[in-house]
Amino acid sequence: MQVKLHDPTFGEDEIKAAIDVLRSTYVTSGEKVKEFESKFGPYAVFCNSGSSANLLAIATLCNPALENHLSPGDEVIVSALSWSTTIWPLIQYGLVPVIVDIDPDTLNIDPKEIEKAIGPRTKAIMPVHVYGNPCDMNAIREFGLIVIEDCCEALGADVGHSDFNTYSFYFSHHITTLEGGMVVANSTEHADMLRVLRAHGWTREMTNRTHHEGIDDKFLFINAGYNLRSTELNAAIGLVQIEKLQGFVNVRRRIAANLIEDFSEYDQFLSVQKDMGSSWFGFPIVVRKHRTERIENGAVRLWNQRIDVNDLRNHFEKNGIETRSIICGNIARQPGMKLWPHRIVGNLEHADHVMSNGFSIGCHQGMTEKSCEYIKNVLDNYNWKQYD
Ligand SMILES: Cc1ncc(COP(=O)(O)O)c(C=O)c1O
Repeated sequence: MQVKLHDPTFGEDEIKAAIDVLRSTYVTSGEKVKEFESKFGPYAVFCNSGSSANLLAIATLCNPALENHLSPGDEVIVSALSWSTTIWPLIQYGLVPVIVDIDPDTLNIDPKEIEKAIGPRTKAIMPVHVYGNPCDMNAIREFGLIVIEDCCEALGADVGHSDFNTYSFYFSHHITTLEGGMVVANSTEHADMLRVLRAHGWTREMTNRTHHEGIDDKFLFINAGYNLRSTELNAAIGLVQIEKLQGFVNVRRRIAANLIEDFSEYDQFLSVQKDMGSSWFGFPIVVRKHRTERIENGAVRLWNQRIDVNDLRNHFEKNGIETRSIICGNIARQPGMKLWPHRIVGNLEHADHVMSNGFSIGCHQGMTEKSCEYIKNVLDNYNWKQYD
């Protein structure tokens, strides 16, 4: 049996929707894009990836056309367990990422660490809902800073809404538009800026369009924009997929509940993510740090050695269960981070531990109870005895 990290979420319905769009010849961003955006509320802006969604949010916050915009040197608190493009837009706009550790149980940014990190130039927090597991947003919002929620792994989870929420519809995510992303603001002013920056810096998609004497309204450029638009094809696929989202998330939650039970037998050696209402982007597993003990045949048995994560991972792979590292590991340890100004708070021991002792397996709509039984079997057949 094979248990893949992800299976395609789309099929004939989506293919037909895309072909219909092609046949119509109305392929560039238009009515389908608007309809797809409306599923995410009035301030939603569809773009070509989750990374672009993050870039647009940061570009908006830093834009000199807006009052109280962020300036180079301002600090944004991020989790050590972030995706690369959670953080690169901050750097690209001259902001300083301040990297803090995670809560080892949830794998999310630890609000206690945020508190330690706040300094005179701290303006914002950019939390990631790691593997779809909602962060403690009440605690995070209490700091009174701007909040940009990177929800790129968390579609379908109860993540609430902050100044900006960003989503990804990459192929392997909860739903897909092949590539694609959504950034959701909470004001017309921000949504308008996102639309201006998404397309060339022109005004065409603004709610409140401006006019300038002597300049053609269709070719009025009011800001330094990109072209990060998607297409009608991608939106048409998204419209079919969004109707399936809840069903997909329900399956992911069922599979996760099964896996949590299966792994509970090995709780002394392996920890799994504490579920805070997750939509289960995948199923992360972390080898525990310390010597452990368990009752076997009525006697306490000590295990002196930590499980060798690579050996366990190879065992899964050899048996057809695909694995991968958890996000980027500790982003502070990535070479790209070292090139740019940033600040690290504390020793990031929990994120380091996840990086060197964690991996994940699939948890998605293509899996069944049989997949879980198979995973349990493979787990039971691992050579635990070598650690006696
Ligand atoms: C937390 C997080 N943020 C941002 C992204 C970027 O999304 P995309 O791949 O659509 O650019 C990802 C991608 O998986 C992610 O996991």
